[in-house]
Amino acid sequence: MKPMSMLFAAVALMGTALIALPASSATPDEIIAARRANQKRVGELVKVVDAAVKANAAATSVLDQVKEIDDRTHLIKGYFPAGTETGDTKARPEIWSNRAGFDAAADRYVAEFDKLLVIAKAGDTAAFGAQWATATSTCGACHRDFRNK
Ligand code: HEC
Repeated sequence: MKPMSMLFAAVALMGTALIALPASSATPDEIIAARRANQKRVGELVKVVDAAVKANAAATSVLDQVKEIDDRTHLIKGYFPAGTETGDTKARPEIWSNRAGFDAAADRYVAEFDKLLVIAKAGDTAAFGAQWATATSTCGACHRDFRNK
């Protein structure tokens, strides 16, 4: 097994990947790489769902993607432990100096994607488009304050 793959507990359960944080033994560089990969994957999934929303596709057609984004939103706070401020990262120092602000931005992100998942499961395509705009606005709100360009 490759060392990186041992850092993660990825459990396949009824077709749903349970996505987990790096093990506590991971080095700062490994945690930074993992959080960037997590965000990159979220970005890819957002593009897929965004195209579906623009095409007015049924909300249920992107249920898998929405579920995975939502799972990943729940990890974000754990990806920024002390000791990962520097390295190959665009994280701003404000994440650590204004932790309450960062956590609040993360909580909004989680809450709005939780709502989106409920709507996707219900198959309410009209409500989905509106909630999609709200949920994705939480990405830029956090990047504006906590990510370097
Ligand atoms: C609570 C704050 C927060 C939220 C919410 C957030 N991000 Fe980020 N994101 C960050 C930070 C901080 C980084 C920089 C991480 C680093 O370089 O270590 C980042 C990095 C990224 C990256 C670059 C990954 C790479 O290749 O290095 C992408 C793409 C991204 N985010 C997409 C998104 C999308 C899409 C959403 C919403 C669905 C989102 N983010 C929500 C904080 C956030």
